[in-house]
Amino acid sequence: MDTATLKNIDKTVNQWLKEAHTLVYQCLQTDLTVEQKTSRLDLVTNVDKQVEQLLRKKISSLMPAAKIIGEENDHGQVKSMAGAVWFIDPIDGTMNFIKQHDDFAIMLALYIDNQPILGWIMDVAKNKIYHGGPQLGVWCDTKKIPVPADITLNEGLIELSASRLLTNEMHFMEIAKMSSGVRINGSAGISFIKVLEGKMVGYASKMKPWDFAAAKVLLETNKILVTTIDGKEIDMLLSSTVLSATASAHKQIVQLQQP
Ligand code: IPD
Ligand code: CA
Ligand code: CA
Ligand code: CA
Repeated sequence: MDTATLKNIDKTVNQWLKEAHTLVYQCLQTDLTVEQKTSRLDLVTNVDKQVEQLLRKKISSLMPAAKIIGEENDHGQVKSMAGAVWFIDPIDGTMNFIKQHDDFAIMLALYIDNQPILGWIMDVAKNKIYHGGPQLGVWCDTKKIPVPADITLNEGLIELSASRLLTNEMHFMEIAKMSSGVRINGSAGISFIKVLEGKMVGYASKMKPWDFAAAKVLLETNKILVTTIDGKEIDMLLSSTVLSATASAHKQIVQLQQP
């Protein structure tokens, strides 16, 4: 796709996200409807559903032939990454959204033939959009984001998911101990933004494709590595324990996984 077309799509999606932002705060003026999905920790609200519906409609009118993988409507119908595939996480950090109305994100990504093309992460409470891709660079609203310094795990703060840390799977405790400190945010999108901005040396968590699709586009564009925690290429249609980190920290964490 040529750069002018990509810039147009980027501009259009920024506009959709502003509409979604308005929708979120309109919905917050009335009571949220909260339902359990698989457990009391796996929740969905009317806002998650409404935002996804809005974005699906927009994508279908912009690119009628594109496939869409969205968290709240994912029935596993998309079986291949051939052609244009969009990922939607309508509210990332639903628990944060319900409990604190803060630290939650809306995420979108476009891949073509399995190649990352464009990604968007909106920090909804801060009303900031992180967007771009390999051909456009990475931006926070209208400000270009520089490539973060390649610091080691020991020199930086690391974001980890609470579930893996508590059960110490994949050497999460060792990773935490080697770092300058561990932080647990509760929204993958917000954690990825911190890695993108160089505030965190990395982020690791078990995730579904809509949790990491947008971040993979943005982080890889700015030379942050995004792989499975044992250093392998991620399958965009499967859940994985995903590691995003500076090249130096990535090497240290992948080494810990070796028997
Ligand atoms: C979740 C959040 C959370 C992460 C989970 C995700 P959701 O997304 O990003 O921080 O640890 O793996 O599922 O369900 O709130 O969109
Ligand atoms: Ca969810
Ligand atoms: Ca979600
Ligand atoms: Ca999510």
